[in-house]
Amino acid sequence: MRALSYFGPNKVKVVKKPDPKIEHPNDVVLKVTRAAICGSDLHLLHGMVPDTRVGCTFGHEFTGVVEEVGKTVTNLAKGDRVVVPFNISCGTCFYCSRGLSANCENTNPNSDVASGVYGYSHTTGGYEGGQAEYVRVPFADVGPMKIPDDMQDEEVLFLSDILPTGYQAAEMGEIKGGETVVVFGSGPVGLFAMKSAWLLGAGRVIAVDHVEYRLEFARRYAGVETVNFKKVPDIVSYLKDQFEGRGPDVCIEAVGMEAEGSKFQRFLGMMFMQAGVPVAINWAIHTVRKGGNVAIIGVYGPPWNLVDIGTAMNKGLTLRMNQCNVRRYMPHLLKHIREGRIDAKAIITHRFPLSDAPEAYEIFSDKKDGCVKCVLTPGVAA
Ligand SMILES: NC(=O)c1ccc[n+]([C@@H]2O[C@H](COP(=O)([O-])OP(=O)(O)OC[C@H]3O[C@@H](n4cnc5c(N)ncnc54)[C@H](O)[C@@H]3O)[C@@H](O)[C@H]2O)c1
Ligand SMILES: [Zn+2]
Ligand SMILES: [Zn+2]
Repeated sequence: MRALSYFGPNKVKVVKKPDPKIEHPNDVVLKVTRAAICGSDLHLLHGMVPDTRVGCTFGHEFTGVVEEVGKTVTNLAKGDRVVVPFNISCGTCFYCSRGLSANCENTNPNSDVASGVYGYSHTTGGYEGGQAEYVRVPFADVGPMKIPDDMQDEEVLFLSDILPTGYQAAEMGEIKGGETVVVFGSGPVGLFAMKSAWLLGAGRVIAVDHVEYRLEFARRYAGVETVNFKKVPDIVSYLKDQFEGRGPDVCIEAVGMEAEGSKFQRFLGMMFMQAGVPVAINWAIHTVRKGGNVAIIGVYGPPWNLVDIGTAMNKGLTLRMNQCNVRRYMPHLLKHIREGRIDAKAIITHRFPLSDAPEAYEIFSDKKDGCVKCVLTPGVAA
């Protein structure tokens, strides 16, 4: 088959690889129809994620058609169309049975951190990803969700990751009705956090970024107010001033480990002297009102970062964070899509055949051509 393959920082190519096979009776093999590129893939591309090995295939947001079915898989048959959570989870361990599929202890057993993830380095188990013609799906009776016959793959593609992730952020922020919210990052994850904030009843939402076209997209798609942090003298005091000098009730961090905004933090983060650039975390901690909630969904690596924990403590903040427990949100968010409250596919600005994946990465990474979300089209989709 053809698959995207990593060749070192900022270098990906499409190569021939052996077709994946059933390795365990609980696997299925999918023919991939759609595979999106995520902001998390950019951290891999830029060489920021430890143990990203040359030759591995990225891609953890995909839909596909079941091609081969392992002997013990009872709920899927050849020809079924499915959307698959990015976390690989066993469904039965201590964490899975508590809804924490992102922390499954069976699919990445040598790690004290996250579960297995498709195409996300050997730090998350070394599983092959879905930016390919075919992909092996372990624990196939746990993760994949069948796509309703009357829905297209692209309508539900983002149930694999970014829509549940944005929703989980709003939920971790404990938005229940009337809260004021600031979302740092107006990429795909930030956009769905903004939408979810409204769905959960937020009273006011302000988005922060420095890329103008993304702020414009956020205003249009998510109906939020926006601010470009490069156009105000001090983003934290600007934001506090929007909320009577106190700051908002909730801050959501949807930026992650390559944040702009502090030369000092960037130097330490990009030189691997800390595990990423926690600028947006610190802005969130400083901006939110005392006693407020900070939800962190941007990705950072272990083991440590220069985070202003003393400020968080003294302000009495609640900090919540995790990889998204995708599976538990899928049915609920499918309903929101079906009933027209979220048009998830409307954030797709670019589609490319698999052969053009390197170009797609470049456009998404460099924020060229108004790119918000890139989708690869390895196979024909319904
Ligand atoms: N927790 C999870 O399960 C999960 C799932 C998916 C993605 N993520 C992470 O979420 C983050 C965002 O993903 P994405 O796909 O939206 O990525 P993206 O790179 O497209 O978006 C990030 C946005 O943040 C902006 N930005 C940079 N510095 C900023 C700052 N200091 N303040 C405000 N905005 C700033 C960038 O201009 C960009 O528009 C990434 O770190 C990704 O790895 C986490
Ligand atoms: Zn993702
Ligand atoms: Zn588990």
